[in-house]
Amino acid sequence: MEYLVQPGGSLRGRIRVPGDKSISHRSVILGALAEGVTEVSGLLEGADVLATIAAFRAMGVQIEGPENGRLRIHGVGLHGLQAPSEPLDCGNSGTAMRLLAGVMAGQRFASTLMGDESLQRRPMGRVIDPLRSMGAKIDAQGGKAPLHVDGAPLHGIDYTLPMASAQVKSAILLAGLYADGKTCVSEPAPTRDHSERMLRGFGYAVEQESLRACLHGGGRLSGQSIDVPADISSATFFLLGASIAPDSDLLLENVGINPTRTGVIEILTRMGARIDLTQLREVGGEPVADIRVRSGKLRGIAIPPRLVPLAIDEFPAIFIAAACAEGQTRVSGAEELRVKESDRIAVMARGLCSLGIAIEETVDGAVIHGGELQGGTVDSHGDHRIAMSFAMAALRAQSAIEIRDCANVATSFPNFPELSRQAGLHLQEFDK
Ligand code: S3P
Repeated sequence: MEYLVQPGGSLRGRIRVPGDKSISHRSVILGALAEGVTEVSGLLEGADVLATIAAFRAMGVQIEGPENGRLRIHGVGLHGLQAPSEPLDCGNSGTAMRLLAGVMAGQRFASTLMGDESLQRRPMGRVIDPLRSMGAKIDAQGGKAPLHVDGAPLHGIDYTLPMASAQVKSAILLAGLYADGKTCVSEPAPTRDHSERMLRGFGYAVEQESLRACLHGGGRLSGQSIDVPADISSATFFLLGASIAPDSDLLLENVGINPTRTGVIEILTRMGARIDLTQLREVGGEPVADIRVRSGKLRGIAIPPRLVPLAIDEFPAIFIAAACAEGQTRVSGAEELRVKESDRIAVMARGLCSLGIAIEETVDGAVIHGGELQGGTVDSHGDHRIAMSFAMAALRAQSAIEIRDCANVATSFPNFPELSRQAGLHLQEFDK
């Protein structure tokens, strides 16, 4: 699948982007492990979340839907999963694989977690090591997928994460549900806390100080209703597009604004973007707002490293914003970008360079010199967020941008082409 995006245009109107991917995964996992029924609305029906749903179905959990973002999960309780007869396919999803690794470690049966080419390149040692120190039996060649997990009795640990990773934190906490005693995770910087919030929502006690979360094994989860807010990471493409395109004025409805996710708003605002939050409210333990964004004149900044984990999935879009800004933007402390769905520093640098933007890569970031975007062809390397970011870049390009390898947009934002056209982007899809 490729995109061809004609230059120019503006983004206007009112749209609702799909449900939050992180919260959607967690609602399926906790719903399956809970006692009783969990009803989910606003679920992201993207390929990543569908992989998590399929994994629990393969372990005997009855799940109705998804239909119009609704899902009904008949939870089997923490000890009610059945051994799957085949490997569990996590597709492109690091979240599915890492969180499931935590769950599978505590079962009484063996399982295999596999994934696509991109997922097989991503580091899994970061979950394998702490899980092994809890007693888990996991085999993985070179610390990469597939993971062969043999269920084993687990014991609690007190673990300090070597990197800021919500997936690793969540994997350990999920394994902690099965562990003897207390499991604690400390993180070097705040990362998304949806697992901690949702565990509490399911009636499970989680002690939380600023950078440390603890729970005791042996409790139980009770089925809940979950209303998933729109994904701020998907909203980001529109925050970018409306900021860089003249005459734009767009309202994004019902977006999750959990403070562990709003780094992009702070970064774009510091760059001069005009972003206003309205209708602030709380839905199911998560803060939500409508976000209005209008065209702005962006300027380059040095992005404070403390904001990096709070905007970790938004850097492809931030790189495009930087390319459209006056002056230079410096990204540092962002080495985690190299182990996402692609090496996002390298792939963004290559793409921007082919559109005529000067960019220097560093080990942990880049220096991007704002300039004039030319048209041209960009390879997304199968990375959904890179494909969508370059699609928005066309709003400010001199001629059309062709983007290769866009099929994975369906992992997180299946209706991106329609919704972006509805807002004013001149995007066509075609198979080559
Ligand atoms: C996620 C955590 C982040 C993020 C990913 C989703 C999650 O990954 O990049 O898209 O749902 O916990 P890391 O834990 O690798 O930082």
